[in-house]
Amino acid sequence: MSSLTSVVRGVGAYLPARALSNADLAQMVDTSDEWIVQRTGIRERHIAADDEVTSDLAIKAAQAALANAGLDAQDIDLIVLATSTPDNTFPASAVTVQAGLGITHGAAFDVQAVCSGFVFALATADNFLKAGSFRRALVIGAETFSRILDWSDRTTCVLFGDGAGALVLEAVPASGAPDQRGVLTTHLRSDGRHKHKLYVDGGVSSTKTTGYLRMEGREVFRHAVGMITDVITDAYNATGIDSSTIDWFVPHQANRRIIDASAVKLGIAPEKVVLTVDRHGNTSAASIPLALATAVADGRIKAGDIVLLEAMGGGFTWASALVRW
Ligand code: ACO
Repeated sequence: MSSLTSVVRGVGAYLPARALSNADLAQMVDTSDEWIVQRTGIRERHIAADDEVTSDLAIKAAQAALANAGLDAQDIDLIVLATSTPDNTFPASAVTVQAGLGITHGAAFDVQAVCSGFVFALATADNFLKAGSFRRALVIGAETFSRILDWSDRTTCVLFGDGAGALVLEAVPASGAPDQRGVLTTHLRSDGRHKHKLYVDGGVSSTKTTGYLRMEGREVFRHAVGMITDVITDAYNATGIDSSTIDWFVPHQANRRIIDASAVKLGIAPEKVVLTVDRHGNTSAASIPLALATAVADGRIKAGDIVLLEAMGGGFTWASALVRW
């Protein structure tokens, strides 16, 4: 049997219409544009409308990715949706996306790894496609973090936003050539000892409420750069690719200082770093596909480019992927 690889066919993203600037936030809590920009690089974030839920954002991103791929929803037989802010406790928001796209075949499910969710979802879809279980996948990250923010807590509410992004992946026979396109490697990690450093203080089985996001920001920062660089080193070791041979570094867009420190530690040239956190804040699982969609639309990422993805978030979870676009 010939081996398969999963190739990126398209990418798309969606941000809700309502933008909330740092100046707007300064009217709500004791903060300033200067503090937020200096500590995080964030200038604005988008907030879902009252009648917009996570699956609505996901469907719009998925439709954009399908249009970018030149494919129809009926071509998709797997949907893996990364989210920590599902529409309901169950069913998975992925099935709402599936129904919204008019798909009744194949399978759809959610993956929950907080900010690392998109890379976990990508790895999951990649493995199913390589195994021959499905042919074409939508890998989506979609979040409405505005719904789990404590809007009176300035240490967290300034950091996050809502949004969605999606990739279309297709299983194709692997040529074995060194310039073979596709997902080259994925590396997933977690360590639940850190779960109290970034969590939501409610849940269906504990409080029967949704709860609000709580974070020890300094502790997250302290671990982030080491975890990110470790899991990227794993990707480099698995492939022989390194910081000099990647074309683009598309990190989870949480915080500009974490991204800059990671790039410096890894020796990645600043011009290879794709940064969109200024425009949408930390959208958790949506941030990587939002950044990918931006860099594809503006012509930076092109077919054949080597793209390095990484994320770190609640759990802690952390993950990397190398993709030849
Ligand atoms: N506006 C103004 N002042 C603020 C704000 C705010 N929004 N938030 C906190 N402060 C104050 C604090 O009260 C504190 O005041 P004090 O010195 O009088 O006590 C002061 O600013 C410094 O607070 P610190 O928490 O020490 O600030 P720090 O420099 O660590 O920056 C930040 C905070 C931005 C949260 C930082 O710790 C960080 O980036 N952590 C990583 C968090 C992150 O990115 N999480 C995302 C999820 S995980 C992931 O995706 C990787």
